Amino acid sequence: MKVKASAPGKIILFGEHAVVYGEPALALAVNKRSFCEISSSSSETTVNGYPIQEEYHSYILECLNRVGIDDDLKIETESELPSGAGMGSSAAISVSTLGCLRKLAENEVTEEQIAEDAFNVEFEVQGNASPIDTSTSTHGSAIMVSEEKEEDFLWEIGKKEKRWNIHHRPIPDVKFVIGDTGVHSPTAPLVKKVKRFYEKNNFAKEIVEDIGRIVRKGSSHLESGDIERVGELMDENQRLLSILGVSHPKLERLIKGARKYSYGAKLTGAGGGGSMIALTDQPEKVAEVIERRGGKPYILNSTEMGLSFGE
Ligand code: MEV
Repeated sequence: MKVKASAPGKIILFGEHAVVYGEPALALAVNKRSFCEISSSSSETTVNGYPIQEEYHSYILECLNRVGIDDDLKIETESELPSGAGMGSSAAISVSTLGCLRKLAENEVTEEQIAEDAFNVEFEVQGNASPIDTSTSTHGSAIMVSEEKEEDFLWEIGKKEKRWNIHHRPIPDVKFVIGDTGVHSPTAPLVKKVKRFYEKNNFAKEIVEDIGRIVRKGSSHLESGDIERVGELMDENQRLLSILGVSHPKLERLIKGARKYSYGAKLTGAGGGGSMIALTDQPEKVAEVIERRGGKPYILNSTEMGLSFGE
């Protein structure tokens, strides 16, 4: 018995953090992936040769709880995605692991079930979450999350009183450069930080709603090909994210540098370090500036390939 699966990372174009509170968001799957291989183990459950432990393997442990497999397993994971860099490595690990586990438990696997499982895994580990990262990693292409049901609806994900409608979107014909600050920044503490601000402060609630308005405008300008306007809205989204307290001096430094050759730039993912993203038609120039300013540039492509089984 051996199952293999892989799932892509993602970049968020608009709407991170606000999406946790029901506002819309838009993300793209990228051509860097996490891989998982699961086979039976004769002794205990291991991850990459080590006994599974809450401290190091919280997402994988939660995947096992979710699917409810009691057998001892040998779990091997590998990732092309840097962890804590805003590129969705934990979602990709969860989606590829759940793909393997569901295949082992039931053989029949649907995207909707994996997306729902993976969202619940992130929610448990992070203490709060939206389905944007996990649905993008499961489905691939571009994903629009919104409160209303729109064209190309895929599935609905709900938690407590909240409902998110997940929609397929085609990959937009635009170029991006990612800049990793190298500041490791796991998602959970940032989601918790914004939650504290949001729950205590009406001003934070207004910022979250303003981000929602930017996402709606940004996605319609992206569809109509008004790239300059998309870039301006990315800048505006960044301004609001920094008011929410999730930017970082190193992010600001890379964003400032990249803007000289870009339509717009903002942090992507949870922030607090991690990565920024620039929309540009001069990717090499932007990559050079990012490198000069101490970041690690990635010129990534979007991918239609979500969760996939086999090699
Ligand atoms: C992290 O990639 C995106 C956040 O909005 C968290 C989430 O949606 O679960 C910060």
